[in-house]
Amino acid sequence: ADKIPVKIVEVGPRDGLQNEKTVIPPRVKVELINRLGLAGSKVIEAGSFVSPKWVPQMAGTAEVVTSMDKRPGVTYQVLVPNEKGLENVLHLLAAHPFKPPIDEIAVFTAATDAFSLANTNVTVAESLKRLARVVRRALEKGIRVRGYVSVVITCPYSGKVDYKNVRDVTKELLDMGCYEVSLGDTTGTGNPTSVGDMLGVTFGANPVERLAGHFHDTFGMGVANSMAALSAGIRTLDSSIGGLGGCPYSPGATGNVATEDILYALQDSPYSAPGDLNALVDVSIWISEKLGRDNSSRVVKAIRAR
Ligand code: HMG
Ligand code: MG
Repeated sequence: ADKIPVKIVEVGPRDGLQNEKTVIPPRVKVELINRLGLAGSKVIEAGSFVSPKWVPQMAGTAEVVTSMDKRPGVTYQVLVPNEKGLENVLHLLAAHPFKPPIDEIAVFTAATDAFSLANTNVTVAESLKRLARVVRRALEKGIRVRGYVSVVITCPYSGKVDYKNVRDVTKELLDMGCYEVSLGDTTGTGNPTSVGDMLGVTFGANPVERLAGHFHDTFGMGVANSMAALSAGIRTLDSSIGGLGGCPYSPGATGNVATEDILYALQDSPYSAPGDLNALVDVSIWISEKLGRDNSSRVVKAIRAR
């Protein structure tokens, strides 16, 4: 029978690297992106155009996206927090009219004011106002926009989240023109039950085919939560090579669920996802060695222990 296609958004070069303490040279980031493309990743979040004072690690994103290979058939996206970030993206695109280094942007807000203030210095309502302008201008320029909602399960500052806020913020992002909204369990505290409950409420105002799941693996639930999201009808999952990452404004949270672990979980399932598992394992081992970091992928750990 035909398999059900699942889209995987590889967020390793952005979510994975933004929290690393030592400065990673742009050439390592470029090599990571290039290796991911060769290993079959189809959507890659390559970096972010945020304030370098807030997230110093992403300061070199312009250099990264103009140096990486732009593989046909692969979509490259960058994170943008405000008009200044979009301005910088538009500048870059204007300088490369025949070979645009990126295809789309992603904007982000949260389900709680406390997290939004910590992450972007504005309340959720203020951030939505600001993002509406960013999205409108991007769409006018023909740039597709993805949206993120952070802290959909718990907030590191205000605790348990009211899923109705997730539902309403998601709707606002879709209504302003985001083609898809990724629901972020930033703290990684969710389990299949709470994720199912959150999705149930969110589906009340939003079409499932425009939603994605973004699960941090802090409590080891990333794979289980991703599978729960698929069972609920979600067809897009975010993941990070080697399980790298974490949000600098979510203390103690670890990286995203590892891309390798998702692909392993989907083997022989009714779902098909792009990416060559063996090749991605090699990329994962390479980048964790480059960063001098333990590899968080259970699949990689298991393979290496044999
Ligand atoms: P602010 O301090 O309120 O901004 O920060 P401001 O407008 O007052 O500007 C302050 C300085 O930053 C100024 O420079 C601006 O020019 C500059 P100065 O005049 O002092 O020299 N600036 C910028 N520079 C470059 N690019 C820009 C930019 N904007 C202002 N775009 C701001 C507000 C939104 C900028 C800041 O809070 C910020 O950059 N936040 C981003 C934080 C971040 O990147 N967090 C991680 C990504 S989100 C995430 O990980 C969650 C996700 O994975 C989903 C999940 O897991 O939940 C997506
Ligand atoms: Mg994240």
